[in-house]
Amino acid sequence: MKYDFETVMKRYGCGSRKWDEMREYGYSEIDDIIPFSVADMEFAPAPEIVQGLQDYISCAVLGYSGATDEFKITTCDWVEKRHGYRPKEEWILTTQGVVDAFYQAINSFTEEGDGVMLLTPVYYPMYNGIRANNRTLVDCPLVRKGTRYEIDFEDFEAKAKDENTKMFILCNPHNPCSRVWTPEELTKIAQICAENDVFVVSDEIHFDLLMNGSKHTMFLSLGEELTKNAMSIIAPSKTFNLAGLQTSMVLIPNPEHRETFLKGQMKHTGNPKCNILGYEACQIAYKNCEPWLDAVLDVIAENKRVIEEFFAEHFPQIKIMDFEATYLLWMDWSGLGIEAKELERINREEAGLFFDEGYIFGEAGDCFERWNLACPTWCIEDALDRMKETYDKYLNK
Ligand SMILES: Cc1ncc(COP(=O)(O)O)c(C=O)c1O
Repeated sequence: MKYDFETVMKRYGCGSRKWDEMREYGYSEIDDIIPFSVADMEFAPAPEIVQGLQDYISCAVLGYSGATDEFKITTCDWVEKRHGYRPKEEWILTTQGVVDAFYQAINSFTEEGDGVMLLTPVYYPMYNGIRANNRTLVDCPLVRKGTRYEIDFEDFEAKAKDENTKMFILCNPHNPCSRVWTPEELTKIAQICAENDVFVVSDEIHFDLLMNGSKHTMFLSLGEELTKNAMSIIAPSKTFNLAGLQTSMVLIPNPEHRETFLKGQMKHTGNPKCNILGYEACQIAYKNCEPWLDAVLDVIAENKRVIEEFFAEHFPQIKIMDFEATYLLWMDWSGLGIEAKELERINREEAGLFFDEGYIFGEAGDCFERWNLACPTWCIEDALDRMKETYDKYLNK
């Protein structure tokens, strides 16, 4: 099937923060400019999802509804098919999004003041979840080696050994560095955390968005012994651009921990259910939309290739980090010799380029830009032209 990956649906005034932000800089519907910031796609959902939801609504009662056995089986089928590992259906709980799930985990498995480790730079709501709940951030900076990030295991182990450290929130694949952690790295993490009673929350929301032949290892596949104090969070939201439906799955093998998580959900929300359309869309996606996903991955790969080629010719000072997963390209712009806030100003005010600024992911992101590549290739080409025109005057003085 041929999908439409060319049309942009302008989302001004639709409640999309990333679109409305451009208004503040004077852009409007008449400009052919799209934002490259927040991680959702500028593509319509797969036609099978649109049609499937229409069919569903035409004959469904939209009353109270939770996750059905079919929903859980379909989820496990998908994970097994894409990642070679089958979780058990009874492990599945649902949350209204992945952020909701890790906030809940922080509340359920740690106390105020406890240390929560993060490998940084990382997805900024993870810092927010720790701080907003009065936990202590235990910062484990990733080590950059050329265009690749690695874990400093000596530092990680020392911090896990601290008696106050109770949790580690893993981001795998890692946003924004685009690393897919290897089985060896994950085993080391799991061993250190198990030895030191550190609970692992593995956010795997980007697990289906693999680039360059990368393979994702589900954290729970490391085996019962290493993961009895662990949970994984997965979702169809990044994979199929369904974030607005707020449907995510939490996998908790240990029944006691599952009970604790569920009790926490009941305490905080009183109703741990998702949107009925979210459950339905997820099942349609997992059953019928794999070809759409594979086609999207091709567009993302092409967009990355276009940028890489353009930068090699016109901006060799900008370093693109290894792109193993996600649709979020992580780029070091420090070689341009312009400080972070000024880069942001030039990009937004002069070039019409709305990236996620690297510093929002932590100090190590200073002078980095994160470019969302889930958009038509012509949008990338236009953006590169604007970038060249704008930066010529700064770089060729
Ligand atoms: C690592 C990571 N976790 C969670 C989320 C958001 O999840 P949700 O919208 O389901 O809360 C994102 C979105 O960019 C993300 O990158």
